[in-house]
Amino acid sequence: MQEFIFELKPDRSSELPWAGVVNASSLDAQRLKLLVDASLALSEVRDFEQLLNLIAKTGVEMANCEGCSIYGVEGENLRFLASTNLVLDQRAGHRARLVDGLRDFLIPITSNSIAGFVAKSGRAMNIPNVYELDPSLPFAFNASLDQRHQYRSQSMLTLPMCDTRGYVLGVMQFINHHNRETSAIAAFSELDTMYLTALANQVGVLLRNARMNDQLRESRVEAVKKFVIASEFTDKDTGLHIERMGRYSALFCELLGLGSAYAEDVRLAAMLHDVGKITTPDAILKKPGSLTAPEMQVMRQHALNGYDILRDSQSPLLQLGATVAGSHHEKWDGSGYPHGLAGEAVPIVGRIVALADVYDALSSKRCYKEPWSMDDVISHVSQLGGTQFDPTLITLFMDNLPRFTEVRHDFH
Ligand code: C2E
Ligand code: SIN
Ligand code: SIN
Ligand code: FE
Repeated sequence: MQEFIFELKPDRSSELPWAGVVNASSLDAQRLKLLVDASLALSEVRDFEQLLNLIAKTGVEMANCEGCSIYGVEGENLRFLASTNLVLDQRAGHRARLVDGLRDFLIPITSNSIAGFVAKSGRAMNIPNVYELDPSLPFAFNASLDQRHQYRSQSMLTLPMCDTRGYVLGVMQFINHHNRETSAIAAFSELDTMYLTALANQVGVLLRNARMNDQLRESRVEAVKKFVIASEFTDKDTGLHIERMGRYSALFCELLGLGSAYAEDVRLAAMLHDVGKITTPDAILKKPGSLTAPEMQVMRQHALNGYDILRDSQSPLLQLGATVAGSHHEKWDGSGYPHGLAGEAVPIVGRIVALADVYDALSSKRCYKEPWSMDDVISHVSQLGGTQFDPTLITLFMDNLPRFTEVRHDFH
């Protein structure tokens, strides 16, 4: 059997061209390791804010400095995204205040500030002492944060975060480098600058990908909502009903352990459950009283009509919406419509949305009915496991009622 070797012992005897720059022995390897660790972390962490905070910490470690802040380009400004500061973080309770104070902090992208200048010019700025800036420089140091936090910035390295095309996505700012031997605050070294530039550019690419994902996600949500609004009566109550339905459905997915990406798809697809009502005549849809048997028959066509509207879409999301529309009035015991499917023959999203729909419809006012009390809704629904609804879902629902109630409170 062949053995693979996954680690390599570095040869420290070789003369490296920059070996004289830094005295400490394996410092470069250590920094490179941090850089590699950071890249791996980048690809694994999901929560972007948490990730940026992690990167800021990595930067501080790599540069042997006190603080690191990350700003992202947002229109004409740099927006504060994350920071870490070893000195300030040690002060009890300071961390929360620091981050809170910075949350909405914007720096205009002009040459008046260090960070703005770096973003604008795409050039790194390595400043030994921010309080002794060369007066010929276009920017001044903004000492207000120092004053607010009773902190003393001295050396500052500010780097643009560039993507592979050289576009600036943001700025990383490192504060107060400590000499690794004397511990005294000193200017950032050439080598620190090299490694930190590599880190900053990685963060830049990451930031661009995250932005693109955000935009895609937003436009998906936007498109679904526009579609729903166009196809439904646009009153506020229906809008909230649809919002809640989506969230209940996503909650079921989460409780079933189906994963957050699927839950988000289901949230949006669930909102499409009744798009078929676009073909239902208003006289029936908005009839104040009960429907006659023929009217009910017309009404019930909304399930298949919705399915037809969505099913040939190229978008997997809209296809999921088609499944939801076509199956959200099926019942577990096979007595539902349009096909009378039973049990697990009903797609899981259909079973989920069926319960979410009825739970919300019963507790809401309709043109044909008054809202039921929450107690009545819950006792009614809980008795229908195994007949109208998937019994597994009813159990999940009853075991997690507070979480469903929370959604109701958040969107009413
Ligand atoms: P919807 O108002 O969104 O109601 C969705 C589902 O919630 C209904 O599906 C039903 O399963 C449940 N539901 C709502 N209200 C009640 C209720 O008072 N009692 C009980 N037991 N269940 C209720 P369903 O029955 O297939 O109806 C589908 C759609 O047909 C309804 O959507 C609504 O738009 C319309 N609809 C149903 N019944 C009437 C009615 O008596 N008058 C009018 N104008 N429309 C009705
Ligand atoms: C600046 O770059 O001048 C503002 C940011 C800071 O004060 O740390
Ligand atoms: C339907 O029930 O009409 C079709 C649902 C599905 O796509 O499986
Ligand atoms: Fe429906």
